[in-house]
Amino acid sequence: MLRKRLGVNIDHVATLRQARRGATPEPAAAAAIAELSGADGITVHLREDRRHIQDGDLTALRNIVTTRINLEMAATEEMTRIACELKPRSATLVPEKREEITTEGGLDVLGQREALIATVARLKTAGILVSMFIDPDLAQVRASRQVAADAVELHTGTYCEAFRTGKYGEELARIRVAAFYGGSLGLKVFAGHGLDVRNIVPVLAIEGIEEFNIGHSIIARAIFLGLPAAVKEIADLIHLGGGRSFPSTRDGTRSVPLE
Ligand code: PXP
Repeated sequence: MLRKRLGVNIDHVATLRQARRGATPEPAAAAAIAELSGADGITVHLREDRRHIQDGDLTALRNIVTTRINLEMAATEEMTRIACELKPRSATLVPEKREEITTEGGLDVLGQREALIATVARLKTAGILVSMFIDPDLAQVRASRQVAADAVELHTGTYCEAFRTGKYGEELARIRVAAFYGGSLGLKVFAGHGLDVRNIVPVLAIEGIEEFNIGHSIIARAIFLGLPAAVKEIADLIHLGGGRSFPSTRDGTRSVPLE
Protein backbone atom coordinates (compact mmCIF):
# COMPACT_ATOMS: atom_id res chain seq x y z
CA MET A 1 0.00 0.00 0.00
CA LEU A 2 1.09 3.55 -0.78
CA ARG A 3 2.74 5.33 2.15
CA LYS A 4 0.80 8.55 2.54
CA ARG A 5 2.70 11.78 3.19
CA LEU A 6 2.03 14.90 5.23
CA GLY A 7 3.11 18.27 3.87
CA VAL A 8 2.89 20.91 6.59
CA ASN A 9 1.91 24.33 5.32
CA ILE A 10 3.67 26.93 7.49
CA ASP A 11 2.15 30.07 5.95
CA HIS A 12 0.34 30.90 9.17
CA VAL A 13 3.58 31.00 11.14
CA ALA A 14 4.53 33.81 8.79
CA THR A 15 1.07 35.37 9.20
CA LEU A 16 1.76 35.71 12.95
CA ARG A 17 5.18 37.20 12.32
CA GLN A 18 3.78 39.67 9.79
CA ALA A 19 1.17 40.83 12.31
CA ARG A 20 4.04 42.76 13.94
CA ARG A 21 6.28 42.99 10.87
CA GLY A 22 8.92 41.48 13.17
CA ALA A 23 11.32 38.56 13.07
CA THR A 24 9.41 35.94 15.03
CA PRO A 25 8.00 33.35 14.87
CA GLU A 26 10.35 32.14 12.14
CA PRO A 27 8.82 29.92 9.44
CA ALA A 28 12.16 28.17 8.90
CA ALA A 29 12.31 27.17 12.58
CA ALA A 30 8.76 25.87 12.31
CA ALA A 31 9.77 23.86 9.25
CA ALA A 32 12.61 22.19 11.15
CA ILE A 33 10.34 21.34 14.08
CA ALA A 34 7.64 20.04 11.74
CA GLU A 35 10.17 17.75 10.08
CA LEU A 36 11.40 16.46 13.44
CA SER A 37 7.78 15.79 14.40
CA GLY A 38 6.91 13.65 11.40
CA ALA A 39 6.24 15.96 8.44
CA ASP A 40 7.27 14.51 5.10
CA GLY A 41 7.49 17.91 3.47
CA ILE A 42 7.05 21.64 3.95
CA THR A 43 4.57 23.69 1.93
CA VAL A 44 4.58 27.46 1.52
CA HIS A 45 2.58 29.83 -0.62
CA LEU A 46 4.49 32.88 -1.81
CA ARG A 47 1.59 35.19 -2.58
CA GLU A 48 1.82 38.08 -4.98
CA ASP A 49 0.95 40.50 -2.13
CA ARG A 50 3.51 38.84 0.22
CA ARG A 51 0.95 38.82 3.01
CA HIS A 52 2.69 36.03 4.91
CA ILE A 53 5.68 34.20 3.36
CA GLN A 54 8.43 36.56 2.14
CA ASP A 55 11.08 35.96 -0.50
CA GLY A 56 13.75 35.67 2.21
CA ASP A 57 11.82 32.81 3.81
CA LEU A 58 12.32 30.74 0.68
CA THR A 59 16.09 31.10 0.93
CA ALA A 60 16.01 30.17 4.62
CA LEU A 61 13.82 27.14 3.87
CA ARG A 62 16.07 25.98 1.07
CA ASN A 63 18.93 25.90 3.58
CA ILE A 64 17.06 24.16 6.38
CA VAL A 65 14.50 21.78 4.87
CA THR A 66 15.80 18.24 4.60
CA THR A 67 12.60 16.63 3.30
CA ARG A 68 10.90 18.36 0.36
CA ILE A 69 9.65 21.85 -0.34
CA ASN A 70 6.34 22.33 -2.11
CA LEU A 71 5.89 25.89 -3.40
CA GLU A 72 2.31 27.01 -3.95
CA MET A 73 2.25 29.73 -6.55
CA ALA A 74 0.12 31.63 -9.03
CA ALA A 75 1.02 30.86 -12.65
CA THR A 76 2.61 34.28 -13.21
CA GLU A 77 5.89 35.23 -14.83
CA GLU A 78 7.33 36.49 -11.52
CA MET A 79 6.46 33.31 -9.60
CA THR A 80 7.65 31.02 -12.38
CA ARG A 81 11.01 32.79 -12.37
CA ILE A 82 11.28 32.51 -8.56
CA ALA A 83 10.35 28.81 -8.65
CA CYS A 84 12.88 28.04 -11.38
CA GLU A 85 15.60 29.66 -9.24
CA LEU A 86 14.53 28.02 -5.97
CA LYS A 87 13.97 24.60 -7.53
CA PRO A 88 11.59 23.20 -4.91
CA ARG A 89 10.74 19.51 -5.17
CA SER A 90 7.27 20.47 -6.38
CA ALA A 91 5.25 23.51 -7.38
CA THR A 92 1.51 23.65 -6.94
CA LEU A 93 -0.26 26.06 -9.25
CA VAL A 94 -3.10 27.81 -7.43
CA PRO A 95 -5.57 30.54 -8.33
CA GLU A 96 -4.89 33.78 -6.50
CA LYS A 97 -7.08 36.78 -5.78
CA ARG A 98 -5.83 39.69 -3.70
CA GLU A 99 -9.14 40.15 -1.90
CA GLU A 100 -9.55 36.51 -0.80
CA ILE A 101 -8.76 35.42 2.76
CA THR A 102 -7.46 32.06 1.58
CA THR A 103 -7.36 30.11 -1.70
CA GLU A 104 -11.09 29.88 -2.28
CA GLY A 105 -11.48 27.42 -5.11
CA GLY A 106 -9.50 25.32 -7.52
CA LEU A 107 -7.56 26.53 -10.52
CA ASP A 108 -9.52 26.67 -13.78
CA VAL A 109 -7.07 24.57 -15.77
CA LEU A 110 -9.64 23.90 -18.48
CA GLY A 111 -10.19 27.61 -19.10
CA GLN A 112 -6.50 28.51 -19.47
CA ARG A 113 -4.91 25.44 -20.98
CA GLU A 114 -2.77 27.29 -23.51
CA ALA A 115 -1.11 29.58 -20.94
CA LEU A 116 -0.63 26.74 -18.46
CA ILE A 117 1.07 24.45 -20.97
CA ALA A 118 3.95 26.96 -21.18
CA THR A 119 4.22 27.46 -17.41
CA VAL A 120 4.14 23.72 -16.70
CA ALA A 121 6.82 23.11 -19.32
CA ARG A 122 9.14 25.78 -17.84
CA LEU A 123 8.78 24.37 -14.33
CA LYS A 124 9.31 20.79 -15.47
CA THR A 125 12.40 21.81 -17.44
CA ALA A 126 13.79 23.17 -14.14
CA GLY A 127 13.29 19.70 -12.65
CA ILE A 128 10.23 20.63 -10.59
CA LEU A 129 7.27 18.27 -10.18
CA VAL A 130 4.15 20.24 -11.15
CA SER A 131 0.82 19.86 -9.42
CA MET A 132 -2.51 21.57 -10.17
CA PHE A 133 -4.72 22.63 -7.28
CA ILE A 134 -8.17 21.87 -8.67
CA ASP A 135 -11.70 21.19 -7.52
CA PRO A 136 -12.56 17.47 -7.58
CA ASP A 137 -14.03 17.86 -11.05
CA LEU A 138 -13.36 15.35 -13.81
CA ALA A 139 -13.01 17.98 -16.56
CA GLN A 140 -10.34 19.77 -14.52
CA VAL A 141 -8.52 16.50 -13.84
CA ARG A 142 -8.51 15.73 -17.58
CA ALA A 143 -7.32 19.25 -18.41
CA SER A 144 -4.48 18.87 -15.89
CA ARG A 145 -3.33 15.79 -17.78
CA GLN A 146 -3.62 17.69 -21.06
CA VAL A 147 -1.30 20.48 -19.84
CA ALA A 148 1.21 17.76 -18.87
CA ALA A 149 1.03 18.29 -15.11
CA ASP A 150 2.56 15.51 -13.00
CA ALA A 151 -0.03 15.69 -10.24
CA VAL A 152 -3.32 17.14 -9.09
CA GLU A 153 -4.08 18.38 -5.59
CA LEU A 154 -7.80 18.01 -4.99
CA HIS A 155 -9.36 20.98 -3.15
CA THR A 156 -11.07 19.53 -0.09
CA GLY A 157 -12.61 22.82 1.09
CA THR A 158 -16.20 22.04 0.08
CA TYR A 159 -15.94 18.55 1.57
CA CYS A 160 -14.65 20.01 4.86
CA GLU A 161 -17.57 22.46 5.00
CA ALA A 162 -19.97 19.56 4.39
CA PHE A 163 -18.27 17.50 7.13
CA ARG A 164 -19.32 20.11 9.67
CA THR A 165 -22.97 19.40 8.85
CA GLY A 166 -22.54 15.62 8.99
CA LYS A 167 -23.76 15.24 5.39
CA TYR A 168 -20.59 14.89 3.45
CA GLY A 169 -21.09 11.65 1.50
CA GLU A 170 -21.59 13.36 -1.84
CA GLU A 171 -18.53 15.58 -1.51
CA LEU A 172 -16.42 12.65 -0.35
CA ALA A 173 -17.59 10.67 -3.38
CA ARG A 174 -16.54 13.54 -5.69
CA ILE A 175 -13.05 13.38 -4.19
CA ARG A 176 -12.95 9.59 -4.47
CA VAL A 177 -14.02 9.60 -8.13
CA ALA A 178 -11.64 12.44 -9.06
CA ALA A 179 -8.77 10.66 -7.28
CA PHE A 180 -9.49 7.43 -9.11
CA TYR A 181 -9.76 9.22 -12.45
CA GLY A 182 -6.50 11.12 -11.87
CA GLY A 183 -4.72 7.89 -11.01
CA SER A 184 -6.10 6.21 -14.14
CA LEU A 185 -4.61 9.03 -16.24
CA GLY A 186 -1.21 8.52 -14.63
CA LEU A 187 -1.39 11.60 -12.40
CA LYS A 188 -0.18 11.61 -8.81
CA VAL A 189 -3.05 12.62 -6.54
CA PHE A 190 -2.74 14.90 -3.52
CA ALA A 191 -5.38 16.65 -1.40
CA GLY A 192 -5.65 19.68 0.81
CA HIS A 193 -7.51 22.64 2.24
CA GLY A 194 -9.46 22.74 5.47
CA LEU A 195 -8.35 19.29 6.62
CA ASP A 196 -7.98 18.51 10.31
CA VAL A 197 -7.59 15.49 12.60
CA ARG A 198 -11.28 14.61 12.29
CA ASN A 199 -12.41 15.37 8.79
CA ILE A 200 -9.32 13.76 7.26
CA VAL A 201 -10.30 10.27 8.47
CA PRO A 202 -12.80 9.42 5.69
CA VAL A 203 -10.45 10.93 3.09
CA LEU A 204 -7.61 8.72 4.28
CA ALA A 205 -9.68 5.70 3.28
CA ILE A 206 -9.44 6.77 -0.37
CA GLU A 207 -6.76 4.72 -2.07
CA GLY A 208 -4.43 6.61 -4.31
CA ILE A 209 -4.27 9.96 -2.49
CA GLU A 210 -0.62 9.99 -1.57
CA GLU A 211 -0.06 13.41 -0.04
CA PHE A 212 -2.00 15.81 2.18
CA ASN A 213 -1.07 19.46 2.53
CA ILE A 214 -2.35 20.87 5.78
CA GLY A 215 -1.75 24.24 7.39
CA HIS A 216 -4.37 26.12 9.33
CA SER A 217 -5.62 23.34 11.59
CA ILE A 218 -2.08 22.32 12.55
CA ILE A 219 -0.96 25.84 13.41
CA ALA A 220 -4.25 26.52 15.23
CA ARG A 221 -3.82 23.40 17.39
CA ALA A 222 -0.14 24.24 17.90
CA ILE A 223 -1.21 27.32 19.86
CA PHE A 224 -2.70 25.01 22.49
CA LEU A 225 -0.70 21.80 22.12
CA GLY A 226 2.64 23.02 20.83
CA LEU A 227 3.86 22.53 17.28
CA PRO A 228 5.59 19.15 17.78
CA ALA A 229 2.42 17.59 19.24
CA ALA A 230 0.14 19.19 16.65
CA VAL A 231 2.25 17.89 13.76
CA LYS A 232 2.76 14.48 15.32
CA GLU A 233 -0.91 13.73 15.91
CA ILE A 234 -1.89 14.31 12.29
CA ALA A 235 1.32 12.78 10.90
CA ASP A 236 0.63 9.60 12.87
CA LEU A 237 -2.93 9.54 11.62
CA ILE A 238 -1.83 9.88 8.00
CA HIS A 239 0.97 7.35 8.32
CA LEU A 240 -1.37 4.87 10.01
CA GLY A 241 -3.97 5.40 7.28
CA GLY A 242 -6.65 6.84 9.57
CA GLY A 243 -6.48 3.98 12.01
CA ARG A 244 -6.99 6.26 15.00
CA SER A 245 -9.98 8.42 15.72
CA PHE A 246 -10.26 11.55 17.79
CA PRO A 247 -12.82 12.35 20.47
CA SER A 248 -15.61 14.75 19.60
CA THR A 249 -14.96 18.34 20.52
CA ARG A 250 -16.91 21.27 21.80
CA ASP A 251 -16.86 22.85 18.34
CA GLY A 252 -19.46 20.31 17.24
CA THR A 253 -17.32 18.30 14.86
CA ARG A 254 -17.61 14.58 15.40
CA SER A 255 -14.96 11.92 15.38
CA VAL A 256 -17.43 9.29 14.23
CA PRO A 257 -18.52 10.04 10.67
CA LEU A 258 -22.30 10.18 10.29
CA GLU A 259 -22.32 8.65 6.83
N1 PXP B 1 -3.16 23.16 -0.42
C1 PXP B 1 -3.24 24.32 -1.10
C2 PXP B 1 -2.97 24.29 -2.56
C3 PXP B 1 -3.53 25.55 -0.45
O1 PXP B 1 -3.60 26.68 -1.16
C4 PXP B 1 -3.70 25.54 0.95
C5 PXP B 1 -3.98 26.83 1.66
O2 PXP B 1 -2.88 27.65 1.57
C6 PXP B 1 -3.59 24.32 1.63
C7 PXP B 1 -3.35 23.15 0.93
C8 PXP B 1 -3.72 24.23 3.12
O3 PXP B 1 -5.00 24.59 3.53
P1 PXP B 1 -5.30 24.74 5.08
O4 PXP B 1 -4.46 25.86 5.58
O5 PXP B 1 -6.77 25.03 5.12
O6 PXP B 1 -4.93 23.44 5.73
